[in-house]
Amino acid sequence: MKGLLKVFAGVLLAMILLIDAAPAQAFVNSASRPPGIAVASAHPLATDAGIEVLQAGGNAFDAAVAVSASLAVVEPTGSGIGGGGFWLLHQAPSAIKSTSPNKDEGRDIFLDGREVAPLAATENMYLDAQGKAVDIASRDGALAAGIPGEPAALAALASKYGKLGFARDLQPAIRYARDGFIVDAKLARAIAENANRMSPAATAIFVPNGKPLVAGDKLVQTDLSKSLQLLASRGAAGFYQGTLAKTLVAGVDAAKGIWSEADLARYSVVEREPLVTYFRDYKLITSPPPSAGGIALAETLQQLEVLGWTDTHDAASKHLVIESLRRAYHDRAQYLGDPDFVQIPLTRLASRDYAISLARTIDRKHATPSASLDAAAKPAVEGGQTTHFSIIDADGNRVAATMSINLSFGSGFMVAGTGIFLNDEMDDFAASTTASNAYGLIGSKANAVAPRKRPLSTMTPTFVEGPNGILLIGTPGGSRIATMVLLGILDFVDGADAKAIVAAPRYHHQYLPDVVQFEPGAFSETEQHDLTALGDTLAPLTSTYGNMQVVLWNPQTNNLQAASDPRAVGAGRVVLTAGH
Ligand code: DON
Repeated sequence: MKGLLKVFAGVLLAMILLIDAAPAQAFVNSASRPPGIAVASAHPLATDAGIEVLQAGGNAFDAAVAVSASLAVVEPTGSGIGGGGFWLLHQAPSAIKSTSPNKDEGRDIFLDGREVAPLAATENMYLDAQGKAVDIASRDGALAAGIPGEPAALAALASKYGKLGFARDLQPAIRYARDGFIVDAKLARAIAENANRMSPAATAIFVPNGKPLVAGDKLVQTDLSKSLQLLASRGAAGFYQGTLAKTLVAGVDAAKGIWSEADLARYSVVEREPLVTYFRDYKLITSPPPSAGGIALAETLQQLEVLGWTDTHDAASKHLVIESLRRAYHDRAQYLGDPDFVQIPLTRLASRDYAISLARTIDRKHATPSASLDAAAKPAVEGGQTTHFSIIDADGNRVAATMSINLSFGSGFMVAGTGIFLNDEMDDFAASTTASNAYGLIGSKANAVAPRKRPLSTMTPTFVEGPNGILLIGTPGGSRIATMVLLGILDFVDGADAKAIVAAPRYHHQYLPDVVQFEPGAFSETEQHDLTALGDTLAPLTSTYGNMQVVLWNPQTNNLQAASDPRAVGAGRVVLTAGH
């Protein structure tokens, strides 16, 4: 009897482990390498830069440097060397030394090049005498800028993981800046909209003689090409030390900012373990803190799994997505911040038990008022900035990277002679426990400003591995990033191809404000009626949002796809190796 009990207990334990540890997929009869290379990014010239570097013998990491630096030039609204980002890397087995313990599966790395608060930053620096947040101070001008991480991240990517060298990887970007490129309608619109929040050095380039550049004009950025050239010749030191560093600090100081040379000299990227979670038989490799995105995915997907969710393409299935998001974004506001500064109950938040307890509170017949979970906030503004790209090379190395200077053209502030827009990522901190940021997100002390601390992000570059293949996914979109990635993953699991994933209509809930935002066409009339009847407050948007860039490789069919969001101007390209 005792023996039988033991066996029973053993079986039970095995079952529990199976539920908790979810299966790692095995690709039976599958290709070990992609049939070619694929790049998807928010600008055709940046995609071309990635392809150029790959065809010159570089790997996905070289291409990632080329694409990142090119985006800094050709999409200056979204990211740049005055900002930061997250680069999620997968080293294929062939790229790893034979002595490594991860030799067989490859290795995943989360390169955190997020901005940090300057040493002189203080918790109340964006509050007025009455303790009220002064939004403009954290959004426009030099005081809004964190210490950039992108130059250090790109230098690390090239030197540690690339094959061609930093200088070669930077060539396309230097060329685009020095020789110029043609402004498209999207960039022209952004220049016109932001002309009056740009500092004089930026206006001289983007609004010459008081006239914003228009579509068809050529944009030459000589100063930026020189700054990039300094990086090419001196590595990260070309930005963080020496002439450029001194010019940046003096310029920020003259504009009432608080950078010091020590801030720049001490900046360092952090390599973190990616957050790993599971949805059915899919494994997700995604952003850990200081991004809130990965935890949001872990919480929402596990709640949906526990609820037995399937996409019935109606209000009932969308209701469950909305309710799981409400709970995940509530936790974001409560617990999340820079993990190097605050204790985050990460294991618990990402656990199956916790998802079960959250899912139990979901009522299939009624929306849960967010106020019954807590506090109040303003609606989010339309951002449309930041940028993402996805790359796979012919060895199977991958990069999914989301990079940002936060709002359009960052803080709008540029130090004369540098050509570099400084970010306004300081707005991603919680200025106080009641103030909301530009995306309507609120936060707790966990995300308060402190010297050298990283502001909480939602950027969610993600790999998904499972029966439908390998997905590289991400997008800009402020607070809505994690939701977009979630919807994209659900479509992928449902069998959608890359084009369908980036094109699918979007909806979003972020706990507060307690409304469901949705793109035109995302909900049918019936779904709108049904969701309202469940108690949801619908907030229809008049425009679309996001700019998703996806690469999808299915090792079983050896089909390789790249797709760029049809809402914007980017390009996805696949180049097959001879013989495929
Ligand atoms: O790190 C973040 O989450 C934000 N700074 C990203 C901003 C963004 O995506 C703007 N796009 N709408």
